Amino acid sequence: METKIGRIFSVEENKNYILEAAEAIKQGGTVAFPTETVYGLGANALDSEAVKKIFKAKGRPQDNPLIIHVASKDIKDYVKEVTPIAKKIIDKFWPGPLTIILEKKSIIPNETSAGLSTIGVRMPNDDIALALIEESGVPIAAPSANISGRPSPTDINRCIEDLDGRVDYIIGGERSNYGVESTILDLTSKPPLILRPGGITLEMLKEVDETIAIDNGLLDIKDESVKPKAPGMKYKHYSPNAEVIIIRGNKAKTIEKIQDLIENYKKESKKVGVLALNDTKDLYEADYVISLGNENNLIEVAHNLFESLRICDDYEVDVILSHSIAEEEIGIAIMNRLKKAAGFNIIDI
Ligand code: TXA
Ligand code: MG
Repeated sequence: METKIGRIFSVEENKNYILEAAEAIKQGGTVAFPTETVYGLGANALDSEAVKKIFKAKGRPQDNPLIIHVASKDIKDYVKEVTPIAKKIIDKFWPGPLTIILEKKSIIPNETSAGLSTIGVRMPNDDIALALIEESGVPIAAPSANISGRPSPTDINRCIEDLDGRVDYIIGGERSNYGVESTILDLTSKPPLILRPGGITLEMLKEVDETIAIDNGLLDIKDESVKPKAPGMKYKHYSPNAEVIIIRGNKAKTIEKIQDLIENYKKESKKVGVLALNDTKDLYEADYVISLGNENNLIEVAHNLFESLRICDDYEVDVILSHSIAEEEIGIAIMNRLKKAAGFNIIDI
């Protein structure tokens, strides 16, 4: 399949290109597009044949439901009831990095919801994404635009790397602002539960309803008896080709431990990458060292995380040693992705 690639930065200047991609969606095709979280791979959410193409292009397991993306806060055509709390949450956080789960209407095919009676809905905060949805006239089902299991793409070049030849269009230009996927909030459970942490934090959501809690399955996934409720969260995920090890604990000891590990791996002739922080990046003599950013600026760290993992793959390192981040606010989302990338391979010191 030939993929048309459009590097576009503004809706006004590239309207024709967006109209072309929207036409492809209407015709049952697939389009990778930017959002403020990560790039998405979209198709008409109401067309089961179109949705099947997403699963095929990504190599995604069939039991993993898709999020539908809308360009308006009015979602009554797609869900059975917009509950009072859903209304409040939509008003406060949309457009933005928050997906809500509600009971679906039958217009949403089973292929989109992977057979569940519920559907995740989100209104992204990105002009190109909103224009694409609006012009196609349908909700767009879109998982992250990566081959299943790989780190999500936060940049058009990473979409091209994974999806060139597998989809009809790839559009976009800017790096995604957040860099981690949306928060998923299940509004069908009591209390409402965060199934995946993201840019809209528990603290922010509690301002609307203080009963909102985090799914137990996210807190300690090592425990086999506690399963995460979002089907996608059970898969090994966000993984670079290299083995990832997180070093967690006191900072001075973390630095010492990483330096020791680098020495040991060098003796084994392994190529080592380090995910450091601004104030530690000059301390390591590894094959490749990259800073995730300033540890007091968690937004910056989130923005850099997936791209840093992919850069380590570009350098073909065998092992990635990573500093850990404080598990607060968006730091919970960062550590959630990092732990999954590491397959929970954590050295506590
Ligand atoms: O930020 C995002 O949400 C990005 C951009 C493109 O919008 N999309 C994204 O989609 O991350 P995806 O497919 O990579 O992740 C969707 C997650 C999966 O873990 C899936 O299992 C869960 O959402 N999910 C979707 N529908 C669900 C439902 N009805 N109930 C529970 N979990 C659901
Ligand atoms: Mg994904």
